[in-house]
Amino acid sequence: MAIEVLPLPIPPTADPEKLKDFGREVKGVNPGALSPEEFKEVHDLLYKHGALLFRNVDLTPEQQYALTKAFDPASESYGHGNKKTEGEKKSILHPDLKTIPRVPQVQLIGNGTVYNHEGLAEAMLKHPSHTTFHKTRVSAEDEEKGYTRYYRWHIDAALYDLSPPKVTTLYGVTVPQGPHQTVRYDDGTGDELEVPLGTTAFVSGKTMFDILPPELKSVAVRTKVKYAPHPYVWMAPARALPTGLGILSEGLEMSYDELPPWEESRIKVLPMVWKNPVTGDLHFQVHPCGVSELLIDPLPEGTKREGALYPDGARLADLKEVRELLYKMQRPAIAPNLVYPHDWHEKDLVLFHNRGVLHTVVGAFKKDQVRAFHQCNLAASDDPAGPSAEDPGDDASEEPFMSQYLHYSVHNIVGFECHGQL
Ligand SMILES: [Fe+2]
Repeated sequence: MAIEVLPLPIPPTADPEKLKDFGREVKGVNPGALSPEEFKEVHDLLYKHGALLFRNVDLTPEQQYALTKAFDPASESYGHGNKKTEGEKKSILHPDLKTIPRVPQVQLIGNGTVYNHEGLAEAMLKHPSHTTFHKTRVSAEDEEKGYTRYYRWHIDAALYDLSPPKVTTLYGVTVPQGPHQTVRYDDGTGDELEVPLGTTAFVSGKTMFDILPPELKSVAVRTKVKYAPHPYVWMAPARALPTGLGILSEGLEMSYDELPPWEESRIKVLPMVWKNPVTGDLHFQVHPCGVSELLIDPLPEGTKREGALYPDGARLADLKEVRELLYKMQRPAIAPNLVYPHDWHEKDLVLFHNRGVLHTVVGAFKKDQVRAFHQCNLAASDDPAGPSAEDPGDDASEEPFMSQYLHYSVHNIVGFECHGQL
């Protein structure tokens, strides 16, 4: 049976034009046992569309691991590493992750208590809630009415020592049904989005880049993002913005000498914009919570400077300044009409291009609503590539000065590869 490819069901809240290339449902193949030819097709579809949905799938943890690994055969360990040190137990991710004993690269995540599950006699799961991470919260009264928030927009990645996984696979084993909830942005815009209970929300990193005005595109292709060492430990005492898109600057982060042992050489310095290896598209891929500095290359000599930001380059190390710039660049792409909130059903398998989209947990469950998902991603065998010389910017539809400095800055980034961990 040939592979059948259908659009994802885009909700009425989304702009169908903007999301027309985002996500596909794939039918006619068993993702747990793909032939090499089928895998190649699925591989390319994933990079083209950012997310793939397979419905009514039976998938063992072993098959899920094998499928995930096929996207990066040289990868081995779970995206945050398989072994947790004592120090890393302080990480904000620690309570959310339970490992399947037989296949430690696959995590059990969800909500409520799960019994006799894949070798785990009893696992207490807790759906992450904005109430423990954001500075402010939806009142208990409004929660009763169905209001909620995005938890944390992110890329699945350790962001220290290990390279960001290429693909994440999410498999819905137990999916509680319930009334829709309404995400409130609570950032003064009045933005809201109605979502299915317990949705995973996705936005496209390509769209995030594409909708930037020219002066911010120029900054994006000239910038490298430096993450804090052990960023999830570092950020643990700090609190997030109401959109879940980054952290408030209140000086609450741990100081570097309180962190578990770390080395400068293992700190991640990654391009702000990552190049899709199949389409060549540029995706704005930044996990805003973990960022410590932005390293902006200057405009090359001879480039028109009019209207350009940071024409002489900059090293932004003030967290408030760093976060304000990132927010300005990322917030437009999480507008309600650009979000795909997946409506989970049991036995749904979703694959997403972790280097091409941002995603977030959403909503809140009650204790007795049991949800069990298997999640797998693998620290990649390499770091993502930034823009390269042949990239857009020469597009005649761009403003001339834009194309010029995009083009030149691309050369700069290529030249920089020797000193970062790009
Ligand atoms: Fe995630």
